[in-house]
Amino acid sequence: MQVHLFDSASQVGQAAAMLVGAQLLEKPNSVLGLATGSSPISTYQELIRLHCAGVIDFSSTITFNLDEYCRLPIEHPCSYHRFMKEQLFSHVNLRAENTHVPNGNAEDLSAECARYDQAIAKAGGIDLQLLGIGRNGHIGFNEPSDQFVYGCHVVRLTQSTIEANRRFFDSEADVPREAVSLGVGSIMNAKRVILIATGEDKAVAVRKAIQEDIDPATQASILRTHPNVLFLLDKAAAAKL
Ligand code: F6R
Repeated sequence: MQVHLFDSASQVGQAAAMLVGAQLLEKPNSVLGLATGSSPISTYQELIRLHCAGVIDFSSTITFNLDEYCRLPIEHPCSYHRFMKEQLFSHVNLRAENTHVPNGNAEDLSAECARYDQAIAKAGGIDLQLLGIGRNGHIGFNEPSDQFVYGCHVVRLTQSTIEANRRFFDSEADVPREAVSLGVGSIMNAKRVILIATGEDKAVAVRKAIQEDIDPATQASILRTHPNVLFLLDKAAAAKL
């Protein structure tokens, strides 16, 4: 496990983008695992800048997102399909057929979860997984629990996540209560993991993940057993280490 500290959140984004860029220079047809939410936005902005400057080519890159809300139309302003389109996909030369986000509107969600895990396996597994971390230590939507769930599954969001994500919706009642999420096993199978954490509201989760027991109550703590994981933190997120 490596932990890198930066003065600012924008430096964290630049560092993450440099690592993704280096991965794509080395292996243009890499399989990237992508996250949504506030944490990766500056990374995506920097990747777009590098792409527009002719440094990064996504034409053979494959992406799989971590998660999607259940029963939220994909064109809803808060869907992760829409987020990815607006924050990254429509600005770079990723091929639409190479980008994947779970279908939270599938009639049979268990079949969708199995299909998603199989699609990742068929693509050769994830080369580099980008992660944020929830205030409750979740990764993807793997919420605090008494166990780690291996594969893609349907998750019931905790009140803490509903409250954290309420900022994107008109009201708390509008936040979906369920999501499809990659499991911790699928995340741990990635060859390399980069976790981005910025801001003081992540400081407790970061400390629990990095310095306390490996415990499914803080799902990110399992990452310490990954052979190639980097935590990129700004000062505020690292304040309780
Ligand atoms: C998003 C995801 C979540 C977020 C986490 C942090 O795809 O899987 O685990 O990374 O909730 O969200 P932000 O970055 O908005 O604080």
